[in-house]
Amino acid sequence: MTATGAEPALEVRGLCKRYGSITALDGVELSVASGELVGLLGPNGAGKSTLVKIACGLVRPSAGAASVCGAAAGSRAARASLGYLAELFRFPGWCTASEVLRLHQRLAGSAGGLAERDELLELVGLADSAGRQVDAMSKGMQQRLGIAQALIGSPRLLLLDEPTSALDPAGRHAVRALLEQLRTRGTAVLLNSHLLSEIELVCDRVVILSRGQVVAAGRPEELTRAGGVAVHTGDGIRRFPDAGREQAPAIVASLVAGGAEVYEVHVLRSTLEDVYLEAVSGSQEAPRQ
Ligand SMILES: Nc1ncnc2c1ncn2[C@@H]1O[C@H](COP(=O)(O)OP(=O)(O)OP(=O)(O)O)[C@@H](O)[C@H]1O
Ligand SMILES: [Mg+2]
Repeated sequence: MTATGAEPALEVRGLCKRYGSITALDGVELSVASGELVGLLGPNGAGKSTLVKIACGLVRPSAGAASVCGAAAGSRAARASLGYLAELFRFPGWCTASEVLRLHQRLAGSAGGLAERDELLELVGLADSAGRQVDAMSKGMQQRLGIAQALIGSPRLLLLDEPTSALDPAGRHAVRALLEQLRTRGTAVLLNSHLLSEIELVCDRVVILSRGQVVAAGRPEELTRAGGVAVHTGDGIRRFPDAGREQAPAIVASLVAGGAEVYEVHVLRSTLEDVYLEAVSGSQEAPRQ
């Protein structure tokens, strides 16, 4: 099938993957629309990297199917539509940043030349390091070079497997800004990460995998919910788990009338971390056998 731009950037239907007796994916349904930024979360061993590798065509599914921009995962057309940053990547230490990008331009068949390399290095904050060898780069710099590599040829789908694990807070902030920028260009992104607060900030939608199955999915604001009111008084924190924002003034008034000294009032909302912990509770690192 030829890509028309109307199909989802990534579509995964009934995806299963077994490695011998280990079930890494167990009937996963997932789609990423054009320009959508989806966060894929889950405990170690949940199957996140396996799903991404199937989308790249590096791993064959045991059942079900994945397609990229309408083309079967692994086909030439599918591979031409995506950029991938692997979880555990390693570039040759003796290559400079520019040489790494040049090599990947050849592998991807990109005719972007020096202009594309310069633009990508600028985009990931490595404009001054084009001539620096990988061995002389910090882990964070190598990760940013990895992101630049994934963007060669302006792919419609970007698969990033833990792209910010080695980045300091400023580096993560820069990647978040970069992802926002990609969204405006219509690039779809599937982002694996354990950094929940970051996912909550940047993703349109999150999918939580546990033991190879989708256990929760939705927009961050749909998944999180009101979590009551907490009032810091001279006698400690008083919690009102069922109260909402509109009840806060009455709660404070009644506490003050009762002689309490009120220092702070917090209207709580569950975080993505709370949702995640609830969704994956009971799952262990070991997958189902
Ligand atoms: N090539 C392989 N051979 C056998 N088992 C594998 C292989 N690759 C992955 N697995 C198993 O499949 C399960 C899912 O692994 P996967 O790497 O997809 O998890 P993950 O969610 O990416 O975990 P992490 O957060 O640690 O990166 C794990 O139990 C893993 O041990
Ligand atoms: Mg992984």
